[in-house]
Amino acid sequence: MSLPDFLKSLDDLMDEARKSLESVDSGDALEALRVKFVGAKSGVLKTVQKMMGVIDVSDKPSAGKRFNEVRDAIQLAIDQAAEKLGGGGSSSKSGPMIDPTLPGVRPSLGQLHPITQTIEHLKEIMSRLGFSVTEGPEIEDTWHNFVALNIPEDHPARDPLDNFYLATAKKQVGGNPADRDAMLLRSQTSTVQIRVMEKQSLPLRIISLGRVYRPDAPDATHFPMFHQMEGLWVDKHVTMAQLKSVLRLFATSYLGSDVRVRFRPSFFPFTEPSVEVDYWWNGQWIEFGGAGMVDPNVFGHLNIDPEQWSGFAFGLGVERLCMRRFGITDIRDLYRSDVRFLRQFAS
Ligand code: PHE
Repeated sequence: MSLPDFLKSLDDLMDEARKSLESVDSGDALEALRVKFVGAKSGVLKTVQKMMGVIDVSDKPSAGKRFNEVRDAIQLAIDQAAEKLGGGGSSSKSGPMIDPTLPGVRPSLGQLHPITQTIEHLKEIMSRLGFSVTEGPEIEDTWHNFVALNIPEDHPARDPLDNFYLATAKKQVGGNPADRDAMLLRSQTSTVQIRVMEKQSLPLRIISLGRVYRPDAPDATHFPMFHQMEGLWVDKHVTMAQLKSVLRLFATSYLGSDVRVRFRPSFFPFTEPSVEVDYWWNGQWIEFGGAGMVDPNVFGHLNIDPEQWSGFAFGLGVERLCMRRFGITDIRDLYRSDVRFLRQFAS
């Protein structure tokens, strides 16, 4: 092939490319033209480049120079056409289509479990009433869970069938797991009353929130593990009237001013007199805890003079409070770990 012929085919190619690129009106059409002219495998430019092989050696420099000019010009025309089409993805220079004005994708964050939310809320309400927060162990000895709370050896509350005694109990005198040295998962947070009175000086006003364990078959209102809020106020002249005021104030703060609360005479070995506390919900009274004046026998175990000091204690079921507030009707839903259920209670 002679040099003039080669240059002529380059010019024709340039003309053709310019014309078709001028009228291109879509990204797809532009991409087709890009492949046609500068495609790496079988583009027209590639074919023309191959023709250089048969050009006279002395003509090669000017043929190469012109070839490069035409190749660059066509590439430039393609880029310009792409820009005109709005930065479409057809030119080899443009990347994927990105719209920086679209809202981002939020990472999905976890949230507090409804029971944790409830515990935080209860602490806040009680701290406004002057109660400070303490904690006690979940694995207890029978001294703190029963003996010091005035629950005698033969009391049904100590029955192995009603408690999670631990097989690795410290010392099992006579093989009876309910003896004084056995260990168990605490069945009530009242254990913390004893622990606090052992350590802290009087007067004191505390709450303690945590897990308790009882071998109950799970149903809509029972679960073998649940939470209690224990309260204890010991001072010189603490009375039953204060107990009722504190529990009423607490109930209206947490459940709303229209909540109906009632106190029913009851019995607990560690309080005298004792009451059970109910609230009205869905046409019936629901028990949400027990309370009473600290029994002088309990003070006696701790060398506190019941002539000088008096106190009240209460233990409320955290799940029942949480369920009433959030309208949850089955306690088991709280512990199924089903995020579709739990997500409804975003904090
Ligand atoms: N510990 C009792 C229970 O679990 C509740 C309670 C606490 C009652 C404090 C009186 C005083 O049922």
